[in-house]
Amino acid sequence: MAEIVVVENKRAGGELVASTIRRLIEAKADTVLGLATGSTPLPVYAALAQSLRKDPMDVSRVRGFALDEYVGLPAGHSESYRTVITRDVVRPLGLTPANIYVPNGDTTSLEHAGSDYERALEAAGGVDLQILGIGRTGHLGFNEPGSSFASLTRVKTLAPKSRADNARFFASPDDVPMHCITQGLGTIRRARHLVLLAFGAEKAAAIHAAVEGPVTASQPGSAIQLHEHVTVVLDEPAAAELSNLDYYRYIWANKPVWQGI
Ligand code: F6R
Repeated sequence: MAEIVVVENKRAGGELVASTIRRLIEAKADTVLGLATGSTPLPVYAALAQSLRKDPMDVSRVRGFALDEYVGLPAGHSESYRTVITRDVVRPLGLTPANIYVPNGDTTSLEHAGSDYERALEAAGGVDLQILGIGRTGHLGFNEPGSSFASLTRVKTLAPKSRADNARFFASPDDVPMHCITQGLGTIRRARHLVLLAFGAEKAAAIHAAVEGPVTASQPGSAIQLHEHVTVVLDEPAAAELSNLDYYRYIWANKPVWQGI
C-alpha cells in the first residue's frame, strides 16, 4: 500500500520531501532524481534550495531526468520544460546542467526521441526517487486516461482538460501545445521510490482514484498501486475524498522514526 502522509500545508510537504532527497544525496552523491514540473513540486525545490543555502553540500554529481516535455516549442521558450527545469531546479539547487536530461520535443527527431530517452535512463541506472504531481484527469507525467501501464517514453496528445489546466502558463489557451513527449507509466514504475504530491481540493478526486480506486488504465494514477515503494504527500483538501483517511493517519502517527518515507 502507498504510504499516505497528510501535511499541514504545501510548505510542510515540500520540507518533508526535500529532507528525504537530502538524505538520499548524502548516501549516494550521484543520486538520480526524477523531476516533475507544474506547480505541485515547487515547494520541494524551494525547500531543498533553502536547505542547501543554509547547510551546503556537494550536489555536483546529482543527475536529473524530467518526466516530460512539450512537442514543438522553440528552443529556449519560457514554458518549455527544459527552460522551466533550468529555472526552477537546476539554478536554485546549483545542479550541474550537463547532468540534467529532458525528453527532446524537437519535431525533427521525434521518431527516436522516446527510445533515446529510455536508453539514457537505463545508462544512468534508473531513477532513485521520482517526484510526481497528478493532473485532474488522473494523469501521471502526461499519461492521460487509457495509457498502458507498460508504456515507455513516447509522444502523446494532451487531453483537453490538461491543455486547459496548463493554459495559465501561456498567453492564450490555443498556445498550449497539443502534443508532448512523456515518460510512460512503465518508465515511471521503474523508479525505485515514487513520491506523489497533491495540494488543493481540485486534486481530491484524482487522489482518491489513484490510492483507493480500482487499478485501471482509465485512472493512470492508480498505477502507483502496483509499485512497492510509494509515498503520497497531501494537504487536507487533496486528502478529503480518501475513505480510509483515519487509518492512514494512524499508520503515519505510529511509524518508527528511523524509517523515513
Ligand atoms: C509535470 C507533469 C504533470 C503534472 C500535473 C499536475 O511534469 O508531468 O503530470 O504533475 O499536470 O500539474 P500541477 O502540479 O501544475 O497541478
